[in-house]
Amino acid sequence: MKSIRDIQIRFIGAGNMATSLISGLFNKGFNTNQIKATNPNYNQREYIRSQFNIQVFDDNNEHFGWPDVVVMAVKPQVMKTALMEIRDNIQHTQPLLVSVAAGITTSQMQDWLQHPNAIIRTMPNTPAAIGQGAIGMYANNEVTDSQRFMCEQIMDAVGTSVWVSEESDMDIVTALSGSGPAYFFTFIKALQAAAEELGLSAENAALLTQQTAVGASLLAERSDVSMDVLIDQVTSPQGTTHAALMQWQHLDFENIVKQAVVAACQRSAELSSDSQ
Ligand SMILES: NC(=O)c1ccc[n+]([C@@H]2O[C@H](COP(=O)([O-])OP(=O)(O)OC[C@H]3O[C@@H](n4cnc5c(N)ncnc54)[C@H](OP(=O)(O)O)[C@@H]3O)[C@@H](O)[C@H]2O)c1
Repeated sequence: MKSIRDIQIRFIGAGNMATSLISGLFNKGFNTNQIKATNPNYNQREYIRSQFNIQVFDDNNEHFGWPDVVVMAVKPQVMKTALMEIRDNIQHTQPLLVSVAAGITTSQMQDWLQHPNAIIRTMPNTPAAIGQGAIGMYANNEVTDSQRFMCEQIMDAVGTSVWVSEESDMDIVTALSGSGPAYFFTFIKALQAAAEELGLSAENAALLTQQTAVGASLLAERSDVSMDVLIDQVTSPQGTTHAALMQWQHLDFENIVKQAVVAACQRSAELSSDSQ
């Protein structure tokens, strides 16, 4: 198995997600000779060069070499064009292809390549930009154990990753962690607004809400007890938390959350089949 220090990675598309991944890889000890990127936009190429001191090309096939991993970090609607551009080089060098594009399936990518290739489809989320992403990964049958390991190393540079064994599970991942940051932001916004409406200053409401969200997340992550036990620890009988939770129970809060996640999951499945 290749040492992580010897892996060569090529990024096709060097926008937001690629920038987060490259930054995370450097934090993990990757060096400038291990990473190359391409991007059609001159200003973005200059930005990437100045940030990371890596080689950045405008042509996806320029200095293609023998990358171990090609990360497809383009928008979903550009994936077909970008893959078709590099298809001969992919066939020749047989690297692991890692896609971060939402809704593009491994079989679509396989069709566009017109030959079998190792492909891993991933679903990162926006906190990956600060190294706190939650990432789902699915590997097709061509992927070897060492390629799985390489992909884990790359994704772990921007967060915490998990494998799913069925590609259809990527719709659940999309509905949970892909869309999930927006659920939490909505909750933070609503909590903050409620405190303000009750009379707290906007500044104090924002600070206390955000710190409560961070503190509760870290406590949930570091505790080895269930969420029910953590809830019980804040809830004394007939106390303030109890009064709030009774309201939620009355409004069927858990069902509201479930319905939202089901809607997101269905939409993800529709989007994947629309782009077939
Ligand atoms: N950002 C996130 O947090 C996030 C989260 C989950 C998944 N993703 C996925 O990550 C992928 C990239 O998203 P992003 O936010 O990084 O988008 P982005 O910032 O727009 O980056 C994509 C880059 O690809 C370039 N590009 C366009 N056509 C190309 C081609 N033929 N060959 C090579 N590069 C090309 C674009 O250049 P131009 O600007 O000049 O067109 C752009 O700089 C998407 O598929 C998205 O679904 C992103």
